[in-house]
Amino acid sequence: METNKKKLTTASGIPYAENENSMTVGPRGPILLQDFILHEKMAHFNRERIPERVVHAKGSGAYGTFTVTHDISKYTRAKLFNTIGKETKTFLRFSTVGGEKGSADTERDPRGFALKFYTEEGNWDLVGNNTPVFFIKDPKKFGDFIHTQKRDPYTNCKSATMMWDFWSLNPESLHQVTILMSDRGTPYGYRHMDGFGSHTFSMINANNERHWVKFHFKTEQGIKNFTDEEAGAMRGTNPDFAQHDLLTHIDKGDFPKWKLKIQVMTEEQAKTYKWNPFDLTKVWPHADFPLIDVGVLELNQNPDNYFAHVEQSAFAPAHVVDGVGYSPDKMLQGRLLSYPDAHRHRLGGNYEQIPVNRCPFAVNNYQRDGQMRVDGNHGSGPNYFPNSFDDIVADESYKEPAWDLGTGLADWYDRNAEGENDHYTQPGNLYRLMTEEAKYDLVKNIVHSMSGIDGPKKELITNRQLCHWFRADIGLGMAIAKGLQVDMDEAMKNMAVHA
Ligand code: HEM
Repeated sequence: METNKKKLTTASGIPYAENENSMTVGPRGPILLQDFILHEKMAHFNRERIPERVVHAKGSGAYGTFTVTHDISKYTRAKLFNTIGKETKTFLRFSTVGGEKGSADTERDPRGFALKFYTEEGNWDLVGNNTPVFFIKDPKKFGDFIHTQKRDPYTNCKSATMMWDFWSLNPESLHQVTILMSDRGTPYGYRHMDGFGSHTFSMINANNERHWVKFHFKTEQGIKNFTDEEAGAMRGTNPDFAQHDLLTHIDKGDFPKWKLKIQVMTEEQAKTYKWNPFDLTKVWPHADFPLIDVGVLELNQNPDNYFAHVEQSAFAPAHVVDGVGYSPDKMLQGRLLSYPDAHRHRLGGNYEQIPVNRCPFAVNNYQRDGQMRVDGNHGSGPNYFPNSFDDIVADESYKEPAWDLGTGLADWYDRNAEGENDHYTQPGNLYRLMTEEAKYDLVKNIVHSMSGIDGPKKELITNRQLCHWFRADIGLGMAIAKGLQVDMDEAMKNMAVHA
């Protein structure tokens, strides 16, 4: 039968005559092995799942445009920043952290803010969160920490006991825990929150001079959070609230925007600043390092297929472009190795050829072959370096200036040794900055969460954490202790033990 309609085909393009009935020996007989399409359909279905991200499994993403609004060429030679008005295509994936791919969007959790800039000198991934700090400051603790945010190995349930046990044993977490327990821990979707590069990075200018920088994305939609109760209710009514909110606003042309700003510190300032500038549990107060305008990020295109673009996107903090560099932040250093390793496991060795991850500009190297090599494999060109046939060279002009960090001997240094162990001033300052209403919500949320601590170590864990709140701010500690109905004499004794 001739028809103008598109023909149903096998994956190899062969038109197929029958798609709903398997071929059988007689109407009630067994199925014939030669019904190849039946096998192809079942076999492909069985292979639809790929590993979900080990963290940040639930997410939403969109394409957008970054536009330069201010000249920062005195800090960076990065081509994407070199002209006011210059536009660079981007892809941004938001996420929660601890939940599985099907978990609710309004869980109390930090939110991922992973941004890919498709620049003319390669893809730059700025893989940040909606918070300027993190729970730990050494990558060796990351796996242990994440285990406490996931499911208990026995109950297979989330466990307040595990979380508060880890946090109370790692007081460097207090700053991030204070943010997490405030209403910033339950943002109203992804459009109404800020994003942060969080780590200290570097910028290198045309004179090969280095500055240390922090990246901030300020929401133009205004900050809006759920209260604990609202977030809990939304988990039941629309677990995909943030996905739906982002998608529908972009679909109707209400494009969300963020202003990119940076903080800048000179190498000289870094040597003497009161806080270790490479400690991810600390901020650089704006009073000391004011925000400098850079540009605007706008999300303006929903991907037409979630799996192809959002699920297969892969971001790596190691991927920086000329003019932007790393810093000695130990967490950043650990992440440089971890992400491409995770992508090779999750998506395969050629993950950078998947369209959402592919650099739209030239990619020249001698990496060849491997599963799912789909880009032509560099054709008949030579597959070794150096060679006498092509004219591909390593360009020394991209070299960064050497680092003079005066860091001393190689050893396992305690991240919380004398001089690095003030985990209390910044969270205390943050609390004291809050409005009375925000203070009330923070205490209520902490009391709610800490009430979940259970089991034989309940008292030990509760008192150990209370001791940290007291050290941050006596009023905060008192309010939480009151909410938890803790015996204050016991708590004070405990404070003496842990002091
Ligand atoms: C995702 C490791 C700290 C933000 C991931 C993934 C791994 C990982 C393995 C999954 C990657 C994938 O399968 O695609 C680590 C390690 C850390 C660390 C080892 C510490 C040493 C951080 C910090 C931030 C962060 C400090 C934010 C400042 C993210 C984000 C994603 C992610 C946003 C999701 C990226 C996406 O949307 O695909 N992390 N992480 N991580 N991480 Fe981390």
